[in-house]
Amino acid sequence: MTGRLSVVGLGPGNSHQLTPEADAIVSAAGALFGYGPYLDRVPERAGQRRHPSDNRQELYRAEQALNAAAEGETVAIVSGGDPGVFGMAAAVCEALDRGPTSWRNVEVAFVPGVSAMLAVAARVGAPLGHDFCAISLSDNLKPWEVVEQRLEAAAAAGFVIALYNPVSRARPWQLERAFSRLRTILPDTTPVVFGRAVGRQDERIAITQLSAAQGNSADMATCIIVGSAETRMIERPGSCPLVYTPRGTARPTA
Ligand SMILES: C[S@@+](CC[C@H](N)C(=O)[O-])C[C@H]1O[C@@H](n2cnc3c(N)ncnc32)[C@H](O)[C@@H]1O
Repeated sequence: MTGRLSVVGLGPGNSHQLTPEADAIVSAAGALFGYGPYLDRVPERAGQRRHPSDNRQELYRAEQALNAAAEGETVAIVSGGDPGVFGMAAAVCEALDRGPTSWRNVEVAFVPGVSAMLAVAARVGAPLGHDFCAISLSDNLKPWEVVEQRLEAAAAAGFVIALYNPVSRARPWQLERAFSRLRTILPDTTPVVFGRAVGRQDERIAITQLSAAQGNSADMATCIIVGSAETRMIERPGSCPLVYTPRGTARPTA
């Protein structure tokens, strides 16, 4: 008998931003797999087995979850935010792609969640209101030179850029390097939004301009939105400015 594996997005960390669909699937699962701090967000339920694992063990976690589902369990594997955005969805597909053919009989479902960039954007207005992309600054799974090339290409092409995994203890220098590359392409006045732990009790939002953005203003719980040359700020007396990217772009001059 084969079971079912659901790859579930828990949202940015606030139970109000957990979708009813994700909540129902996680509640009904017989076995839960996930990075420990994400699993800690899920209330304990009698009879439900929990299998926490460490950061950077995505493939191992995916394989364990697929094995349990192949043995007939109803399994949920949880991700923060959306599982398809630098989360467990791709790891499960990689494991399926290279794993035993019997895993292909497992019913697999992907359940979306509110990704960090959407939660940060919503705090300040509409910075993702026109074309945008998301880039992880982590060089665990790709070389740093590729990160720099993609940053420069995205900024030059006019995309707003959401930066995930901006720093870690092992690589505290990368965000500053990213800002200096972007300063060679974008205006000094380009709005930059730092959203830390959005939706959680220790949430912090800061808005600045690219010329003043500092690489040491973020940690691993921060998602940063760097505007395009068209992104604007609306100052408002007594409240935070709004940051938005207008919906249209002028035709390039030949
Ligand atoms: C491994 S990625 C997971 C992204 C997740 N799947 C998503 O869709 O948001 C982890 C990165 O997401 C961002 N992140 C996750 N939760 C966040 C939150 N509540 N506030 C701000 N950034 C967050 C940070 O950049 C963090 O380093």
